[in-house]
Amino acid sequence: MFCMTSVRLAGFVLTKSRLIWPTPVNKYAISECQCAARAHTSCTRHKQHARFEGKKRGVSPASYSTLDPDEVRKFQVLADKWWDTRGEFALLHAMNELRVPFVRDNLLTVHGRGEIGRPLAGLKILDVGCGGGLLTEPLGRLGAEVLGIDPVEVSVRTAELHSSLDPALKGRVQYRSCTLEELTEEEGNEEAFDAIVASEVLEHLADLDTFVHCCYRILKPGGSVFATTISRTQLSYILGIVMAEKVLRIVPGGTHEWDKFITPVELERLLESSGIIVQSVRGMFYSPLSRRWSWQQSTAVNYSLHAVKQKEEPPHQPPAED
Ligand SMILES: C[S@@+](CC[C@H](N)C(=O)[O-])C[C@H]1O[C@@H](n2cnc3c(N)ncnc32)[C@H](O)[C@@H]1O
Repeated sequence: MFCMTSVRLAGFVLTKSRLIWPTPVNKYAISECQCAARAHTSCTRHKQHARFEGKKRGVSPASYSTLDPDEVRKFQVLADKWWDTRGEFALLHAMNELRVPFVRDNLLTVHGRGEIGRPLAGLKILDVGCGGGLLTEPLGRLGAEVLGIDPVEVSVRTAELHSSLDPALKGRVQYRSCTLEELTEEEGNEEAFDAIVASEVLEHLADLDTFVHCCYRILKPGGSVFATTISRTQLSYILGIVMAEKVLRIVPGGTHEWDKFITPVELERLLESSGIIVQSVRGMFYSPLSRRWSWQQSTAVNYSLHAVKQKEEPPHQPPAED
């Protein structure tokens, strides 16, 4: 997450150290796996790429997990802070102003109009990594049937308690403590959801390839994936980690690991290799002065993405030569 003050300060840092301002992503210019081209092979994404190659060779995805125990511990400590609008998750509360309309409007474009006052009525949404339900609840109020899942049980309890305070959410919002891969393996969940939302979650997963593979399986054909996350650029290190966590402290220290960030190009390539086609990518910008998010052209730090599962089978992957 980044901010206006940070931009000015980072602008100074960038000028002094002659770093290059990242160019906006051209989502049509994808020709090779940037992960494979990365110089330091210890990078998390590179390992994920290697695991994905393993999966293409026919190793069962069930043997992979998105769960990183260190990430679970981080969020266990913060589990009673979810609904403090000025606390550790203030930036997520503020982000609803952009991400709720982003999900709503794209779903309306894909599925057409719902009922008056309940535009998402009739749609089943899975909110992966729902935390305390900050995004789950507004989606439920728009009329969708929403299941929020999170591996941190105490966050799920917080979410359940909070949603029980609003009678309008009864029967519309439910929560479970589990991972996407566990839910996907359960009987009856194949092609069960119209949309998956993973907001500020991808950067906390141990295995993004498993996540994408499960998204494909659990989504109905024509279903949508919505993600908000942080790109892996020099600027995101300066703004998302140094400024946001260490200088301005608007995000709890240690929340993010830079090498777990993913660029829009890498994410698009991963999704599209699984038959989930990206429709739009939009940059997001946080100002600590106004405490508000706004859309911006650059996707160099925070961005939102919408992708749709193809109605036909994904392209055939040729078997690897051993
Ligand atoms: C930054 S919070 C975002 C919460 C919520 N999506 C929101 O934006 O309000 C990241 C969440 O991801 C969850 N998480 C961590 N590892 C996960 C995994 N493997 N699968 C699903 N969720 C995970 C954490 O427990 C935490 O609740």
